[in-house]
Amino acid sequence: MCINTALYRRMPRTLTCISHYLNTDFFVFCSKMANFESKSKKKGTFPGSNMEQTLVILKPSTIRRFLVGDVLTRFQHKGLIISGIKMMQLDETILREHYAHLVDRPFFPDLVESMTATPVIVVCLKGKDAVAVVRAMTGSTNSRNAAPGTIRGDFGMSGQENIVHASDSPENAAVEIKRFFHPDEIFDYLPCALRLLYAPDEL
Ligand code: PPS
Repeated sequence: MCINTALYRRMPRTLTCISHYLNTDFFVFCSKMANFESKSKKKGTFPGSNMEQTLVILKPSTIRRFLVGDVLTRFQHKGLIISGIKMMQLDETILREHYAHLVDRPFFPDLVESMTATPVIVVCLKGKDAVAVVRAMTGSTNSRNAAPGTIRGDFGMSGQENIVHASDSPENAAVEIKRFFHPDEIFDYLPCALRLLYAPDEL
């Protein structure tokens, strides 16, 4: 038995896995990624440069119901990249701006009370057609009408306590991301799985 094999056998299972990963899959992955990036550069683009960003707010009732993990998992399993995420306490000033089209509606005071009950979690998600993809995943505004399989359809019973807010257009997404995040809170990175999520001609 050669010395490498002897060492390999003595390594705990985790180290063996890491070693195997580093020796093979990792290098295969790196060379594929480099090839992928160089193809995209030749096309004058960079992987991810044609992706959209969208804003999601996990509402206070979602936080109080311990649904944060379930909701974020849905977005991550879909393949959306978390570009920014933080907990923050909203107040009436920012809500008057964010829900400007609703300030005259009779339910607005209740909306403010609900949205300020605890901190919220604001998330900037990135992906191809992210705005439409996230809106489809969240479902109709009133959770009772939202289709099963959507986030609101699966987790909610209410129009007000409808789990998340999600931007409704790329233009509004840009405004809303600026409203809730400082530029240095948005991070630009490529996930390892990018090549497994998209075909080269989709990026
Ligand atoms: S509109 O004009 O009703 O279609 O407004 P919309 O842009 O769909 O947003 C509605 C948001 O207001 C929250 N909200 C309520 N909607 C309807 N009825 C009642 N009573 C109500 N209370 C609060 C609703 O959750 C929507 O919030 P977001 O964060 O946009 O999902």
